[in-house]
Amino acid sequence: MGIKDLFKSGPSVEVMGDRDIDVPAEPINENQKIVDRLMPSRKKEETRSIKGPIGIDIGTVNIVVAQSRGKDIKAVRQLNAFFTIPYSNITRKTLSRDEIMFFEKNEKLYILGYSAEEFASTFGGDTRKPVESGLLNPKERESISVIKALISRFIREPVKNNEKICFSVPGEPIDRPASVIFHESIIKMHLKSLGYYPIAINEGMAVILSELTGNNFTGIGISMGGGMCNVCLSYLSVPVVTYSIQKGGDYIDKMVGSSVGEMAAKVKAVKEDGFDLSIEPRDRIEIGLHIFYDDLFSTLAQSLQQVLGSSDNIPRFSKPLPIVLSGGTVMPRGCKEKFEKALTEVRLPVTISEILVAEKPLFATAKGALTMAITEDSEI
Ligand SMILES: Nc1ncnc2c1ncn2[C@@H]1O[C@H](COP(=O)(O)OP(=O)(O)OP(=O)(O)O)[C@@H](O)[C@H]1O
Ligand SMILES: [Mg+2]
Repeated sequence: MGIKDLFKSGPSVEVMGDRDIDVPAEPINENQKIVDRLMPSRKKEETRSIKGPIGIDIGTVNIVVAQSRGKDIKAVRQLNAFFTIPYSNITRKTLSRDEIMFFEKNEKLYILGYSAEEFASTFGGDTRKPVESGLLNPKERESISVIKALISRFIREPVKNNEKICFSVPGEPIDRPASVIFHESIIKMHLKSLGYYPIAINEGMAVILSELTGNNFTGIGISMGGGMCNVCLSYLSVPVVTYSIQKGGDYIDKMVGSSVGEMAAKVKAVKEDGFDLSIEPRDRIEIGLHIFYDDLFSTLAQSLQQVLGSSDNIPRFSKPLPIVLSGGTVMPRGCKEKFEKALTEVRLPVTISEILVAEKPLFATAKGALTMAITEDSEI
């Protein structure tokens, strides 16, 4: 059975209200936050063990887990963030009682996920990130402990030993001397230690597996996330060219914020609250957002020209290729048109047929990773 046969009917991604994948939950709006109920009792934990292959997208901003349920896919999302508070017995017990996701280390309590955001706003501070620009954050000493804790709480142990799990990794950055090997190895080792059989997939490739089923997994997949943009050119599901650039939604927030004298968090809130790139900007923040979205799309288009233009292994395609855009940064209306315009400014060695936007941009990477995990599982 090929990958295509698995999802002939085109699965729909249902976004669930929290991470308890085995338990029916109300579907939620894509941007609605997932309520954290992640310190359940031992008994609860046993009944919610994971069955079947998993796709997991470990991003700079979000972690998304996808699993099959019949013909559909269930996906859940958590914030990839933490916040520390001083350790005390009473606080630890209170957090446990409230079922807040945390762990203890070096006299500190590390609050994880969406709860970290709530603590940060209550205590007046910023959440901290275990992943920055797509890779384990070298500026955070505890980034490895935090990412391991988040993953363990999120997926727990598999029922069957060596259950397939496919996790997304970024392409090598072309604009920063960094390697994905360390990041990939740490996550792989941790998933193995939990009892899974881990398989890494390039993030852009995952987008292609999710969105280009109808085109034989041939085309260009671009995931525009919080920390970076990941690009993959695939021919019949073979990733021919992969790379990343270190600009994404965080860059837009920071640059607009510093240009108009506002906090990046404020810019982010405006951007995520129905901001529309297809209409004229109404204030300084919206003008800034237009300018830095243009900047990001232009950088992306130029990177395609540079990387594809200098690659020796681009196949001769008999037909023009589609480009599919995904990731939270393409959520505003008008992204497709902005990118189309940016592409007219460059010359690519391949002809583009159309630009598509993923059906659920925040979930496509996890869905593609799940497709990979299921395929690997069925080949045994
Ligand atoms: N409705 C929205 N409108 C605009 N931007 C949004 C919206 N929702 C989320 N975003 C932005 O999407 C980004 C997060 O997207 P995503 O979850 O795809 O990133 P990630 O996978 O965590 O990061 P990366 O792939 O870069 O490692 C953030 O910059 C966030 O501000
Ligand atoms: Mg991503």
